[in-house]
Amino acid sequence: MWLTLLYCVIGGAALLFALFSWVIPYIVQYHPGLAIFWHDRIEERVLDTLTQSTRPQRLLAAVQKNATRGDPRSVVLAIDQFCRQKEWAMNVGDEKGCILDSVVSEVNPGAVLELGTYCGYSAVRIACLLPPHGKIITLEFNPDNAAIARQVIAWAGLEEKIQLVVGASGDWIPKIKEQFGVKTFDLVFLDHWKDRYLPDTKLMEECGLLREGSILLADNVICPGTPDYLEYIRNSPRYKSQYFKSHLEYTKVEDGLEKSVFLG
Ligand SMILES: C[S@@+](CC[C@H](N)C(=O)[O-])C[C@H]1O[C@@H](n2cnc3c(N)ncnc32)[C@H](O)[C@@H]1O
Repeated sequence: MWLTLLYCVIGGAALLFALFSWVIPYIVQYHPGLAIFWHDRIEERVLDTLTQSTRPQRLLAAVQKNATRGDPRSVVLAIDQFCRQKEWAMNVGDEKGCILDSVVSEVNPGAVLELGTYCGYSAVRIACLLPPHGKIITLEFNPDNAAIARQVIAWAGLEEKIQLVVGASGDWIPKIKEQFGVKTFDLVFLDHWKDRYLPDTKLMEECGLLREGSILLADNVICPGTPDYLEYIRNSPRYKSQYFKSHLEYTKVEDGLEKSVFLG
């Protein structure tokens, strides 16, 4: 009887492990709602409890273990490997990251604003493609995420290029000109909470942070989605807008980037 009980416990544990590690992650990667619910709500909380650490802390540990100090590309690679092999995280990711890279290379911006830093993945990706005089200001309102991002950026050796500002976009956008001496941004990467895309775009217009030819690049316009932003940016005579189809980071769910040129 004890032997049967032992077999049941071991079998149950193996089943749970297989479900958690392979079956559910495989199924959810094709389903928009389930993918975010599983990775963001269930998996993260379970792993936080089991490891007594946070996802950004685990991501940083992977960078410190697998990336070479002072080599930004190895930092990006270490994060992508962590997210594909161990644990999903809400970076723009490798697939959409290539679209981001091509826009940065095409614009060759001197001044970039990023809304939503998280662990610094996209800031590092952008910063290593900037021209010698180029700088990026990245805003993050969660101080724990900002603390991790600072260490990721330092590991990549990009502290000189990336100015990380802790605070909410709505508070900082009106103060940016005065505080950082920036006139206008050549490129703005919107990747914070999705309900802020539209109000922050209007705020940037009001504050004169966009010039004729400034580019707005918005992530996650399909998943989780930014319908009010898309409606505005695609119909406003002040923008010329284009959609780049791709997938939600590290999944097979459709998502994409919206690139919009400000016409003045
Ligand atoms: C999708 S993640 C950013 C991912 C990052 N751009 C990357 O690709 O590596 C969104 C981040 O925006 C931050 N955030 C959300 N709303 C914000 C706001 N209004 N102001 C500043 N940060 C915000 C969140 O705390 C979160 O860390």
